[in-house]
Amino acid sequence: MDGGMVIVGAGECGARAALALREHGYDGPVTLVGDEPHLPYERPPLSKDAMMADTPAVQAIASEAELADKSITHLRPVTVASVDRAAKRVKLAKGGELAYDRLLLATGATPRRLPMPGLGARCVYLRTFSDVLAIRQHLKPQSRIVIVGGGFIGLELAAAARRLGAAVTVVEAQPRILMRGVPTEIAAVVHAAHEAHGAEIVCGSGIAAIDDDGQKVRLTLANGRVIDADLAVIGIGAVPNTGLAEQAGLRIENGIAVDAMLRSSDPDIFAAGDCCSFPLSVYGGRRVRLEAWRNAQDQGALAGANMLGLDLPVSSVPWFWSDQYELTMQIAGLCDEAETAVRRDISENAFILFHLAGDGRLVAASGIGPDNAVARDIRLAEMLIAKRARPDPDALASPDIKLKKLLAG
Ligand code: FAD
Ligand code: APR
Repeated sequence: MDGGMVIVGAGECGARAALALREHGYDGPVTLVGDEPHLPYERPPLSKDAMMADTPAVQAIASEAELADKSITHLRPVTVASVDRAAKRVKLAKGGELAYDRLLLATGATPRRLPMPGLGARCVYLRTFSDVLAIRQHLKPQSRIVIVGGGFIGLELAAAARRLGAAVTVVEAQPRILMRGVPTEIAAVVHAAHEAHGAEIVCGSGIAAIDDDGQKVRLTLANGRVIDADLAVIGIGAVPNTGLAEQAGLRIENGIAVDAMLRSSDPDIFAAGDCCSFPLSVYGGRRVRLEAWRNAQDQGALAGANMLGLDLPVSSVPWFWSDQYELTMQIAGLCDEAETAVRRDISENAFILFHLAGDGRLVAASGIGPDNAVARDIRLAEMLIAKRARPDPDALASPDIKLKKLLAG
């Protein structure tokens, strides 16, 4: 091995992979190439604490000193422009090349663009720390923000904006918020919390026109309503960054297609995190692409190990959380695998839905409540899902029967 390990993308997944390579004892060169100017940083706080802070700051995954100590070379801001698989080299946009023995593509995802004319300086997206700085200056009393998309990004940002005193309207094209992977009952609790905190949510209407003069933005909704705002933030989903992989001729299938070991159609190239689709063993090998922090973290660590030939398969159960106001929502598993749901009340204002497949198997659990109210039971549900358990629905519904007991059974 002379080229060493090259990782494209210095986000959650790329950074974890670099650290994992060292944890597994690899002592050759590790190069982490990232096109952002910062140290690798956590993205979830961007729509939460970092957005609400008086002085937003990045929350680094690894410090400069740790990277140096582990001899991880972090090139930034440096963009990888192409991959030459035959020569096993990547070309950098600024010129120059890096040879690799094994390559990891951890390129993440990019906000889906709103496909219409009229967007200007007052229409922005939220994915990076730079985006936070652009948005944060408009989140203050007397400012008016319109958010397009009632998904995770839009709603978390709406909560942050309300906390900072801005007037907020969220425009969601679907009949309700959080249609992607969140049950109606939980979305209703979130919707009510936003209204209680003074955010307006308009569902069932897309955007017909945007007029952005760089100082103000005017949105005309499909239902004819006009909304004037200081800033429009668009959060209508994310698309995987597959450009490099496509150029290199790798197999793409809703992201860079990898096997259970995160290996792409080229055995020397791995892909992990938001950019890849992979077979999920707990659902019979169904191919999925996840956009979730823990998945990026776990897959980064796994990719690092597998680049060294450890051949460890992905086996975890998907898990996602979202914080809005005082509420935390957590979802383990994939709700769309379910046919029925059983409700378990944890307290007056916290509950969990257990989602069961037709054969009685627990395939997902979704919960909502203040702070960490649902965390412990969701964790136990995750273990039940991993075990492919078929728990008694009546027991699931009864708060008196401990989930730990069901797990033991
Ligand atoms: P990314 O974090 O997107 O990192 C990829 C990196 O690669 C980026 O820095 C990108 O610029 C870089 N890159 C791409 N192409 C190149 C190239 N050619 N050359 C060099 N560099 C390149 N998940 C949760 O579970 N809970 C949450 O509450 C939550 N909140 C979130 C809030 C926000 C605002 C956002 C944006 C995401 C949130 N997520 C949350 C999702 C989670 O952060 C992502 O799933 C995770 O960051 C994905 O990590 P990744 O490393 O795969 O991709
Ligand atoms: N007008 C209004 N709403 C729209 C439009 C549109 N033209 N197009 C899509 N939407 C709505 C969808 O119906 C959905 O409710 O935007 C919402 C997008 O929600 P998500 O798919 O959850 O995407 P987003 O909130 O942008 O989050 C993107 O960030 O936090 C991470 O993990 C999260 O990866 C996800 C990413």
